Amino acid sequence: MSDATAANDQPLIFREGLLDGQVALITGGGTGIGLGIAQLLARLGAHVVVASRKAEHVESAAQSIRAAGGSASSETVDVRDAEQVQAMVARIEQAQGRIDLLVNNAAGNFYAPSESLSPNAWRSVIEIDLFGTFFCSQAVLPAMKRQGRGRIVSISMTLHYRGWPLMAHATAAKAGVDALTRTLAIEWAPYGVRMNAIAPGPIPTEGVRRAFTPPPSASGQVPDMFAVEQAMTSYAKKAIPAGRWGTPGDIANMVAFLASPAGDWITGSIFVVDGGEWLARNPAPQMQR
Ligand code: HXC
Repeated sequence: MSDATAANDQPLIFREGLLDGQVALITGGGTGIGLGIAQLLARLGAHVVVASRKAEHVESAAQSIRAAGGSASSETVDVRDAEQVQAMVARIEQAQGRIDLLVNNAAGNFYAPSESLSPNAWRSVIEIDLFGTFFCSQAVLPAMKRQGRGRIVSISMTLHYRGWPLMAHATAAKAGVDALTRTLAIEWAPYGVRMNAIAPGPIPTEGVRRAFTPPPSASGQVPDMFAVEQAMTSYAKKAIPAGRWGTPGDIANMVAFLASPAGDWITGSIFVVDGGEWLARNPAPQMQR
């Protein structure tokens, strides 16, 4: 399944028009899980604003959503820059008149030993994941306060529940996102703002599929993609109690639930949506000694 068809192909389990009249901002909405979320929210009637640093990603995402009959626009923004975030939110308010839902999905991540992580490498991931979540949440608050209602959903992870070598930066950032979720939930509940997070399990976006694909052989033979799919299926059967990989649609459905009236009394919660993967996960790999 390609990123572009992530959630459009799946049966709609919420009623059509559920989010009619709502405006949703999805950071990192041009690809992967973020695109799946944007597609589903648009199918449910929301106007979706897909935002990321890469204009080509968000423009083609918004275009594909419009081509499928949804309402979408795009914004180019670096969530690490509070001024850029505020300017983006001002533009959205001016164009759409409101912001009902923010999905803090933009993230940066790579595997690297912490002892050699440069200050800039550390800063990059912490600033995208944690600062970005705070800057975007703070920026949409005035609109949500005026409306007397708003929903914020941040995409977290499960790797920090036990510790995960080579990911000190991302696990620290996502632990901070969880802390923000709980704290802002209490501070902002009186304004009608509900603040929750989702910790997704393994979703085979293009990056995961690449990791299962052997490099091209010296003779130039192309990898057998059927064998790659089989290897991925067999991995999922072993490693994920629910027996399959997740899809962007699995995460998008939880966002839609939280955005719906069903989410009215839910705040400060972190929902693990992972087919049981983290509970069953083997201990983190040992560092080489
Ligand atoms: C060590 C690295 C590195 C690596 C980058 N750096 N990659 N260090 N190992 N593999 C260092 C660079 O050398 C640089 O430090 C610093 O990080 C910033 O890198 P830039 O490329 O200049 O920064 P920038 O363009 O802002 O890119 C940010 C990024 C990049 C995080 C490094 O990977 C990115 O934009 N990623 C976005 C897409 C992404 O990662 N998505 C995954 C999200 S999924 P120096 O000192 O040289 O200047 C997710 C869930 C994960 O988060 C679940 C996992 C199981």
